Amino acid sequence: MIAETVAAIDAAALVGPRFAALPPLSLYVHIPWCLRKCPYCDFNSHEWRKAALAESTASQDAPPEDAYVDALIADVERALPSIWGRKVGTVFIGGGTPSLFSASAIERLLSALRARLPLLPDAEITLEANPGTFERAKFAGYFAAGVNRLSLGVQSFDDRFLRALGRAHGADEARRAAESALMIFGNVNLDLMFALPRQTLDDARRDAAAALAFAPPHLSFYHLTLEPNTLFHRHPPPLPDGEAAADIEDAVLETLAHAGYVHYETSAHAKRGFACAHNVNYWRFGDYLGIGAGAHSKISFPDRVVRQVRWKQPKQYLAEVARGAPLQEEHVVARRDLPFEFMLNALRLTDGVPASLFAERTGLPLSTAAAPIAEATRRGLLEPDPAGLKPTPLGRRFLNDLQSLFLP
Ligand SMILES: C[S@@+](CC[C@H](N)C(=O)[O-])C[C@H]1O[C@@H](n2cnc3c(N)ncnc32)[C@H](O)[C@@H]1O
Ligand code: SF4
Repeated sequence: MIAETVAAIDAAALVGPRFAALPPLSLYVHIPWCLRKCPYCDFNSHEWRKAALAESTASQDAPPEDAYVDALIADVERALPSIWGRKVGTVFIGGGTPSLFSASAIERLLSALRARLPLLPDAEITLEANPGTFERAKFAGYFAAGVNRLSLGVQSFDDRFLRALGRAHGADEARRAAESALMIFGNVNLDLMFALPRQTLDDARRDAAAALAFAPPHLSFYHLTLEPNTLFHRHPPPLPDGEAAADIEDAVLETLAHAGYVHYETSAHAKRGFACAHNVNYWRFGDYLGIGAGAHSKISFPDRVVRQVRWKQPKQYLAEVARGAPLQEEHVVARRDLPFEFMLNALRLTDGVPASLFAERTGLPLSTAAAPIAEATRRGLLEPDPAGLKPTPLGRRFLNDLQSLFLP
């Protein structure tokens, strides 16, 4: 009897997930060029002047936007069978610096996407912009093309820190870009970072206040981290130590909460009704098709979850798309990895998720994660609520510890 039960459990562990309905689907479009590479950034972004010099095909005056938009269209066409019949709820054009592209290139891209994908009528369409590329007419052109949310990479409103971060713009440009973005789009996110080189508590409070002066519907505040393979990692600047950084974070969080922003995810703050639908879909372990150089995808099928990565180097991506082979890597996510991958995302949300979402998005019964859930609850990292998966304040503070309890 015991042997039979063990055999049944082993067999169940071998069976893949089973989905009654597939998760909501988003589209991510990666634009891989920037004016210049910031010393702290490990995203797949390349200085286009340097890239242009190395690639005889590219003009030196601008990134090869026509060829790249053609490649994106070919890329999405090849991907259509994997998402056949599914509606797309959000689009995020990120980078790199998508605002390096002209409004007409973005218009051509969005028209081509609409012609090939069933975008929901109220789809959130975000574009990431850098104040260093700001032109009012360009922003108005993006809006006319159908972009309805702008995410502006401000980082700081203080010239001293913008210089220390090697940014391609000053505080005045950031202010003008933020003003225009709010006027044109209304639905705007400002990205800022804290714990910057030599930043004091007062500096950070001033920066948060400067951002709040614009009353943007959404603010992302990231803790500056030293990522491997960046200039800052090789030559670290004088950053506030752990305790000072924690004080800065507390001060920033208090300032934003006082101004009425809901801190709904580790780094995201929004006025009610303005959470980023695209990112929330990631955090609720939704599906996404990522097109463009180095873009990642996660796509569910009735019996499996697949991850894909596209070729990372823009030049190689363009060449491989032309050959009809945009994927550098594709694999089925192992059943044992799904609970961890789900929790890695869902537990970033301040309110967590309903417990039923686990089965909906992993295709596995919640009992697969019963042991780590019990352990996390026992340690006071997860709220003791059978209907929800919600980190406690302690769980939020020690999020890595909480997430790693779900490692296979
Ligand atoms: C993919 S970047 C794109 C934004 C845009 N290219 C820009 O920088 O203006 C998105 C955001 O990630 C944040 N970020 C990038 N590198 C970071 C790091 N090392 N630590 C913390 N946040 C970082 C920045 O706030 C940035 O605006
Ligand atoms: S502009 Fe943005 S994406 Fe580009 S290098 Fe700087 S932080 Fe990275």
